[in-house]
This record gives sequence, structure tokens and C-alpha cells, in this order.
Amino acid sequence: MKRPIVELWGTGCYTPQRAMTNEEFSKRLDTSDQWIVERTGIRERRVAEPNESNACMAKAAAEQLLRRNGLAPSDLDTIILATCSPDRLLPSQACDLQAILGAKSAAAFDVGAACTGFLYGLSVAEGLIAAEQAKTILVVASEKLTSIMDWTDRATAVLFGDGAGATIVRRSTNGRGILASYMRSDGTLAELLYRPGGGGTHPPDEALLKDHSYYIKMAGREVFKAAVLSMADACDHALERAGLVAADIDLLIPHQANTRIIEATAKHAGLPMDKVYVNVDRFGNTSAASIPIALDEAVQCGRLVPGMKLLFVAFGAGFTWASMVVQW
Ligand code: UT7
Repeated sequence: MKRPIVELWGTGCYTPQRAMTNEEFSKRLDTSDQWIVERTGIRERRVAEPNESNACMAKAAAEQLLRRNGLAPSDLDTIILATCSPDRLLPSQACDLQAILGAKSAAAFDVGAACTGFLYGLSVAEGLIAAEQAKTILVVASEKLTSIMDWTDRATAVLFGDGAGATIVRRSTNGRGILASYMRSDGTLAELLYRPGGGGTHPPDEALLKDHSYYIKMAGREVFKAAVLSMADACDHALERAGLVAADIDLLIPHQANTRIIEATAKHAGLPMDKVYVNVDRFGNTSAASIPIALDEAVQCGRLVPGMKLLFVAFGAGFTWASMVVQW
């Protein structure tokens, strides 16, 4: 087994106070708690207040993590932030976080890989440390998806939620850390899950507000099929690269989009559901933030303890998909 170059040092997360139930959607849209639970597993999601920005949530997750590790913001030399729902398009969300966190010594940039962003971010951090370009990297994923979803579209509105999660990546000294990782993409399928308007090809105008093309559009069934196939492929590759088999894995933390996708992924990987962490029922799909929020919960509730082997797997817009095996 490969000796890890970097470890994930501690966790932190933040989710908004306000929990929104399926019943609230059924009052304003042609949907029902039964449909949402049966098709997605989601029962409620957290919704940020209008003045609660992506940067605020990232800061809260980062501060909790820094406090737990006895670090100050000035100890960070790099901030990598994964998001697809930034507060503004320029500059990066990471730079806004760097400013409000007061991380004066840190380089800061975003990773744009949608729901796969946290795993992409961890791999970039591993590379920077291997190249001796950085020592203490904050990898944070933060999403305010409720600001870019169409509240009138029942096919997407019921799916998403807000929140942030974070970890520190540093050189491994004790055999713990990333054992293997795998990243892929297929941009030919971009238009199955995307935001058509608001960028350079369709700059903001009145038509954009009317046709709702500023919001997330998704061909749910096609994305579902691709997610199941890609996450299965990713699990196989990460395990193979780590020289491990399913029986070696103590906990699978998948991207939380839909319990049916999670169950299909676990089945393919040969892992029973009692080895799978699921919280999509309480948070919905928080895109890049879903894995670090679940990771923090798993640590805090004692489900993940040192010595365990962990498998992460994610799929999202792009399409992008990735997986990672970690010695915790
Ligand atoms: O985060 C990474 C990427 N995202 C995902 O991984 C999400 C992937 N996709 C999914 O999770 C599922 O495809 C959905 C949950 C989005 C949809 O479930 P589905 O079983 O694939 O449903 P569907 O899109 O095939 O729609 C089935 C029916 C349709 O009605 P008709 O055409 O059969 O009459 C939809 O209009 O369900 C209808 N429908 C709804 N009905 C009640 C769609 N959304 C809703 C809704 N409430 N919220």
C-alpha cells in the first residue's frame, strides 16, 4: 500500500439554521412529501438567510476547523474553495473568504468542478504539497445553491440546500492520509446540468430574467443514470489504485444527491449500507459541500475514527466525477 503524502487534518462545517421541509414546497409547487422522499430520500434542507452569504458560511466552517486544530488564519498558506454558487462572479469566492477570515499569508483560488469540487480541491492540495509549494492548505467547499435555483421549477427546487464544510491538508507524518485518488470529466454532456445564462454567451438582460435561464437546469433522469455509472467507475478505480478491495473499506462517504444513487453506488462497490454515511435526508444536495459536511458529521458522531479506511466518491455538473481512498 502506498504511503500517503498528505493527510486531512480535522474537519469543520456550517449549515444554516433554517430547515425547510418538503411540506413547505408542496404548498407552493405541484409536489408532495411522498414524491420527494420516494424519489430522492430528501426530507428537509437548510436554507441560508438572504444576508447569509457563501463567504459567511465558508468562514464559519473554516473558523470551527481552525479552532479545533489550534490554528490561526495566518497559519494558512493556501485557500482552495470549491463552489458553483459564489456570491459574485469576480473575484474568486476564495479571495472573499481570505479577506474576511484574515488569512494574510494565503494564496487563494476557486475550484470549479460542481459537486465534485471538494475532491478535486483535495487532489490539487495534495499536488501543491508534493511540489513543496505549500504546507498548510485550507480546502473548503461552500454552496448557496438556493440563490441559483429556480424556486418555480419542481424538478430542481426540491433537491438543493445550502452549507459549507472544510478540512486542512498538510504533509502526512503518521501514515494517515490520501492513499489514492481518481478524477474524470466529460464536457460533451455539460448541457444536461448547467446554468445557460448569465455568462459571456448570454450576458444578463431582461430576457434572462423572464426565461429563468440564469438558474440551474437539469435533465434529472439522464443525470441520474450518468451519476450511477460514473460513481461506480470511480469507486473501482480508487480501490484499484490503492491496492484495496471493498472489504478493506470501513466507511463510504458519497456525494449526497439522492439515496437511490447512493444505494446503487454502495451496491456496485460491494459495501453494505451500514458502511455508508447518508445525510441527504436532512440537508438535500449541497453540491461540493455535501462530502465535507458528511465527513464532519461522521467524525463528530464517532462514526469515523482514526485507523479506519474511507472511500469518497462524487459526481456533478461538467460532468465531473472523482473518488479518493483515505487512511483516517
Ligand atoms: O448533484 C449531482 C447531480 N445531480 C443528481 O445526481 C440528481 C440526479 N437525478 C435525480 O436524482 C432524479 O432524476 C430526480 C430526483 C431529479 C428525479 O427523479 P426521477 O425518478 O428521475 O424522475 P423523472 O425526472 O423521471 O420524473 C418522473 C415524473 C415526471 O412526470 P411525468 O413526466 O412522468 O408525468 C416529472 O415531471 O416526476 C415528475 N416530477 C415531480 N413530481 C412531483 C419531477 N419532479 C417532481 C416533483 N414532484 N418535485
